Amino acid sequence: MLITHIKALIGVHPKEKLFLRGSELNQLPFLENAWLLLEDGLIKDFGLMQNLPKFETGHELSADGRFVFPSWCDSHTHIVFAAPREEEFALKIAGKTYEEIAAAGGGILNSANKLQKATEEELFKSASIRLTDMIRQGTGAIEIKSGYGLSVESELKMLRVIKRLKAAFPIPIKATLLAAHAYPAEFKNNHQGYIDLIINELLPKVAAENLADYIDVFCEKGFFSNEETGQILTAAANYGLKPKIHANQLSSSGAVELGIKHNAVSVDHLEETDENVLLALSKSNTIATLLPSCSFYINIPFANAKGLINSNAIIALASDYNPGSTPSGNMNFVVSLGCIKLKMTPEQAINAATINGAAAMELSDQVGSIAIGKKANLFITRPMTSLAYLPYSFGQSQVETVILNGEIYHDQL
Ligand code: NIG
Ligand code: FE
Repeated sequence: MLITHIKALIGVHPKEKLFLRGSELNQLPFLENAWLLLEDGLIKDFGLMQNLPKFETGHELSADGRFVFPSWCDSHTHIVFAAPREEEFALKIAGKTYEEIAAAGGGILNSANKLQKATEEELFKSASIRLTDMIRQGTGAIEIKSGYGLSVESELKMLRVIKRLKAAFPIPIKATLLAAHAYPAEFKNNHQGYIDLIINELLPKVAAENLADYIDVFCEKGFFSNEETGQILTAAANYGLKPKIHANQLSSSGAVELGIKHNAVSVDHLEETDENVLLALSKSNTIATLLPSCSFYINIPFANAKGLINSNAIIALASDYNPGSTPSGNMNFVVSLGCIKLKMTPEQAINAATINGAAAMELSDQVGSIAIGKKANLFITRPMTSLAYLPYSFGQSQVETVILNGEIYHDQL
């Protein structure tokens, strides 16, 4: 496929650039009035319209005033769940906090009860609908976590659903084991019992079926302590699972530093940070993944993106799509919030949601920018006046045509 008359081809980073640190995020290279050639599912070549060679292609598409972006790379989601939780919405509006709702039997345990009763088929169907919606909105690579099973059997059920999604969808998917998301009721007073179950029973089974790429822990007061998190990360490392952890969402208590110590690919959330966190990330290759739709939805502080960028950290943006804290997987909105609430420039936010999101899934050699040899996962916008129009027009998708593996995506819904 040859795409011609592209108003601007966005994100043409040098192929060897696998992530952007600190002020590097300011640079979002683009070509104006460009063409792009796709072949065998990959980006074959691109250039300026004034230098368009004569190609024999089966399919030519004129973008005619539209922009071409690399697909969003959403590196943190929980899209396998049995039911939404609108009942918590009213409580939240009435002033209850996320912690209060969870403590009253809502939250993660509520989702776990429902998921334990759902069949693999039901979970696959509902997650497929969510994923299809996300793809329509421009997502072209994704990470999906378990964490609503909270038993050996149900965590395996969730991971098998993710494995089926990997096989059924035309985008790269990474799976993360998040059995340590909350303590199930029967282990409320026996934390070590649940940790032992994860380490001695679940991890070996997950490894034997090759069901996970990463390990995650909700390292937070009232959930998993630093010491408990450390035990799980150490055990998972024996199976080659690197951490991507929930850190500093509700309090700042050393979770980021712990993740870095365990060579985490990413530490995610970081709504609560201090100088030590900035300093630790400034010297680390661990990516700080920020989830502004979560802050927006549960009314908690927004992460200090500017401080992190000024500290030379590597930051990514992701959706955190889940039924409790973020019932949305719209990366266009995430990018808008990155600009509006995290005070990132459109260039910084788009880089954080593409190349650095890809890096937070160790996929940036394949997706996340427009480079020869990378996967042809991209989207063509509606006609736009400028790059900034995309985050500016918040809540409205500017994504008009989705291309995955070099072909126009037609969803199955
Ligand atoms: O990333 N913080 C932990 N996990 C999710 C929320 C889970 C839920 O409320 O169901 C999050 O915000
Ligand atoms: Fe999350």
